[in-house]
Amino acid sequence: MNQYFDYAASTPESPEVSELMNPWHAEIFANPSSVHPEGLKASKAIQLAREIIAEKIGAFPSEIIFTSGASESNNMAIKGIAFKNIEKKGHIITSSIEHKCIINTCIYLQSIGFDVTYLTPDNDGVISVKSVLNAIKDNTILISIHHVNNELGTIQNIRDIGSIGFERNIPFHTDAAQSFCKLDIDVDDFNLDMLSLSGHKIYAPKGIGALYVRNAREVGLIPLIHGGGQELGLRGGTSPTPLIVGLGAAVENFPESKCPQHFEFEEKIKDYNFIRNGNSPAVSTIWNITFSTDEEAKRFTNEQPWLISQGSACNAMANTPSHVLTAIGLEEAQARRTYRISLPPYHITC
Ligand SMILES: Cc1ncc(COP(=O)(O)O)c(C=O)c1O
Repeated sequence: MNQYFDYAASTPESPEVSELMNPWHAEIFANPSSVHPEGLKASKAIQLAREIIAEKIGAFPSEIIFTSGASESNNMAIKGIAFKNIEKKGHIITSSIEHKCIINTCIYLQSIGFDVTYLTPDNDGVISVKSVLNAIKDNTILISIHHVNNELGTIQNIRDIGSIGFERNIPFHTDAAQSFCKLDIDVDDFNLDMLSLSGHKIYAPKGIGALYVRNAREVGLIPLIHGGGQELGLRGGTSPTPLIVGLGAAVENFPESKCPQHFEFEEKIKDYNFIRNGNSPAVSTIWNITFSTDEEAKRFTNEQPWLISQGSACNAMANTPSHVLTAIGLEEAQARRTYRISLPPYHITC
């Protein structure tokens, strides 16, 4: 059977998660906003998941807003701040190697009058803290820099970037889709005002995620989905109890250590000649590698029929070198012999 090594694109739902979700589909199915006992059971289960997620990042439960995933959370964070400033517009700092859901949100905001700076990384895929500092303008309304890059695995220095935002009173958002549960995060330590996370990167189901919003009640974020007042009025729609329970269960059951697949991979990859991109530092579960020659890349794909990505899943459809590989200076020919191998995620202690 082909070995699946594309965990940065998506993880399977773990058996523990499925089991804990089960009763919430058809047995206890009431609307969690209903005030009868069945509704209250569901709303209690949601509150428990909220507490688990908040605790994981040092936040208050009231600061966790459930969404459909990191794309929605990222849209909500960036558009939420932009729409709050719709009259006077303003300037947003991000990077050229964010996930497409951030880049395309920013391109949209530019089309309606916002000013956006896309910081370029160095050849290792690192956004320098100095470049963030230098990009600040009098009208900067938001800094959004991801934590772990989904194509390279590079870890950004979000603690120091957070300090810059804090000292200048500029909200700081991070896309933590690839780091939540995998690396330790403390929203106070990192001076984070918003953080996006996704369930299907941590063995929870697809279609669930969350946005952490510091002082969510007071911050005046403009919702993307207006509705019946759910999620503090910041995200309308009936709360999906099974998915939310699954997200909480995934956080509680997140693996603490490597599994045999990691050792098998580490042994096999030694046979090939390649350069690892963005390894400075990077998470040990994402390897972005450029083979030395086309022949070496061919030998690898023939010998190891692993399910991996050439670029990220989203770029793979475009069949062009990804914006991330281009940003770190890879030529098209190098990009074509570059692969992302992503191993089962676990909690990494750096
Ligand atoms: C860094 C990053 N941000 C955002 C996303 C989008 O997440 P979701 O699929 O939950 O919308 C992904 C998923 O590929 C990602 O890796």
